[in-house]
Amino acid sequence: MPRHDPLSETTDFLGSQGFSTARFGLILGTGFGACVQAVEQKSVVSYRSIPHFPASTVKGHEGNLVYGGRGDASVIVMQGRVHLYEGYDIRQIAYPLEVMHRFGVEVLIVTNAAGGLNPRYEAGDLMAVRHHIHPIGRKQMGDLTAETDGDPCYDDALRESLLKISIQRKLPVQQGILAWMPGPSFETRAEISLLKSLGADAVTMSTVPEVLAGRRLGMRTAALSCISNVWTGRKGETVDTDDVVSTVESSAGRCSDLLARLVRRMAHRE
Ligand code: HPA
Repeated sequence: MPRHDPLSETTDFLGSQGFSTARFGLILGTGFGACVQAVEQKSVVSYRSIPHFPASTVKGHEGNLVYGGRGDASVIVMQGRVHLYEGYDIRQIAYPLEVMHRFGVEVLIVTNAAGGLNPRYEAGDLMAVRHHIHPIGRKQMGDLTAETDGDPCYDDALRESLLKISIQRKLPVQQGILAWMPGPSFETRAEISLLKSLGADAVTMSTVPEVLAGRRLGMRTAALSCISNVWTGRKGETVDTDDVVSTVESSAGRCSDLLARLVRRMAHRE
């Protein structure tokens, strides 16, 4: 009797749908779905039809796994992600990364919507992540934090390539520190002032678990945030999810261009 191996069932199924070796993995967060146009799409499969794969349940996440690109620039794209606050545990969040790893992914690029904490940031700004902090909910990260303790996580060469492309394309990209919060509700005023005092430039409810999972699998990682809302610290400040999605969606064209060029540059220069 063959041993029951969920990962092989997942990858066999994807293989039957045209998925094959890929060097790059791309996770498209809230509102980033249209950036799938950064790759020439060869196969598109709904998460719901993939055995053992977690399905996206929140707004702004299409929930498709896409295989595309060609040769050294082949890419597996998660068009939409899953979050811990949707009720998944850290192993389920890490599962898509394990699938990518089986297909050979070595370079992981993760995108997300984030609330701006740095007073110089404006809605619609892009930020390349230099470091992250996750002062709250560390336990939810399971053993991933212990295994990646002290790891710089974000690859300098990858981020520098992204910044060079942004200068060539005249698309400004900030660099900053991303804080992770468990969600699903947006932060309280007190949490915002805590995160600011810790030196965070932006806050998100995603990305850090996936980056930790990717690092554990030996992937080189980069993360790009779109500042979807800014926290000024004014009393009564609220965030509207529809505004978050629409602000990111309006930057999708710029982001697609950056991401497509980053993959091409990494594929051809290395
Ligand atoms: N906080 C946390 N996550 C987010 C935010 C925010 O303000 N905006 C978009 N994702």
